[in-house]
Amino acid sequence: MSLTTFSFPTRTLFGAGALRELPAHLIRLGIHRPLVVTDGGLVRTDAFRLLESVLGAAGKGQSWFLFDGVHPNPVEEDVRLPGALMREKGCDGVIAIGGGSPLDAGKAARLLAKKPDLDMARFYDEPHDWSGLAPFIAIPTTAGTGSEVGRSSVITLDSTKRKAVLFHPELLAKLVILDPELTVGLPPKLTAATGADALTHCIESYTCPAFHPMCDGIALEGVRLIVEALPRAVRNGGDLDARGRMLVAAAMGAVAFQKDLGVVHSMAHPLSALFGMHHGLANALCLVAGMKFCAARKPGLYRRVGIACDLNVLGVSEAEADAMTIAFVTRFLADLGMNTRLRDHGVSLDALEALVGQAVDDPCHKSNAVPVSAEDFRALYREVI
Ligand SMILES: NC(=O)c1ccc[n+]([C@@H]2O[C@H](COP(=O)([O-])OP(=O)(O)OC[C@H]3O[C@@H](n4cnc5c(N)ncnc54)[C@H](O)[C@@H]3O)[C@@H](O)[C@H]2O)c1
Ligand SMILES: [Fe+2]
Repeated sequence: MSLTTFSFPTRTLFGAGALRELPAHLIRLGIHRPLVVTDGGLVRTDAFRLLESVLGAAGKGQSWFLFDGVHPNPVEEDVRLPGALMREKGCDGVIAIGGGSPLDAGKAARLLAKKPDLDMARFYDEPHDWSGLAPFIAIPTTAGTGSEVGRSSVITLDSTKRKAVLFHPELLAKLVILDPELTVGLPPKLTAATGADALTHCIESYTCPAFHPMCDGIALEGVRLIVEALPRAVRNGGDLDARGRMLVAAAMGAVAFQKDLGVVHSMAHPLSALFGMHHGLANALCLVAGMKFCAARKPGLYRRVGIACDLNVLGVSEAEADAMTIAFVTRFLADLGMNTRLRDHGVSLDALEALVGQAVDDPCHKSNAVPVSAEDFRALYREVI
């Protein structure tokens, strides 16, 4: 039997109002001049205003600093610029607030602060001592990516226009704050799309064949929480209980995918890299096709996912358990408005080979429940375009 590492190390503060505890944690972590990393949309929200009041608006530019230029689907510049700002202002920590994009950019900015000439495209070719990175505090305002508990940062590289994953244990946050008050202003469409990302993480990590029973349990409980809470959060953004459950479920999805992901994420990444499509929406539009593909080759794969969805799939055949679960997920996504096709979002068959080319090279499907060939990706994309 090969050796495996099980790792659940992130300190997480959860609850409505948790953000108000931030100053005490800055002191505990020895952070005196933090750089706040976010995006241009978020700075206009109540979530950001709350952070500003907690940090003290008067201290902006004096005791804390702001980089608010992160793009959705961050590019190298979104990491390089805050990294340079950290050096210029002598920042000794990073607070990233926002969705997965600012969290990923802020997390990786510390690499650039330590090594300004880092070539992100050669991250793994040129190993470096990353110990002692400035501490990182992650405050998600979407409930989807779970980037806050992850050790990776997903950045679109300038040279290849592909999403690359920068993975290193030192990237892990020292503190995560899950405060449902910060997600109440997230519009219904983004709530649904980011929630679909979390659902995809739970389903793909549970069904990926790596041995990790702890993550399997977390993934299935994540499915249960999302199925129950996401429709409520979409219907009523002010439902703090639903918002809180979604924040925890999203973090659980990302804890679970330390196991790995699968074919759906490999289909989704090129859609963001080539068309700028939101990551969660891209997953939502590919999820059912990916599940059908896997179930056809590994019957019974989704029975426990069905149980987590509260379906009565015990005592039915494997094929039936899969069919019932997939029908449920299809309806669930449709009820949340995510039953469109890629062509409704500007993706046409003209892009098929470019999409297939990137999907084949994407690492996620290497851990899929069943192998996926270029021909399989071609057929899968045809099904959803
Ligand atoms: N590191 C990881 O483990 C990991 C995992 C999955 C996805 N990702 C990455 O995360 C990114 C996607 O993140 P995302 O889905 O959270 O979207 P995002 O961070 O790109 O944000 C989408 C939009 O939502 C807005 N927004 C965020 N919070 C808001 C709030 N509370 N109120 C109003 N508007 C708000 C933002 O301003 C932005 O315009 C992608 O780049 C993806 O590759 C990373
Ligand atoms: Fe994802």
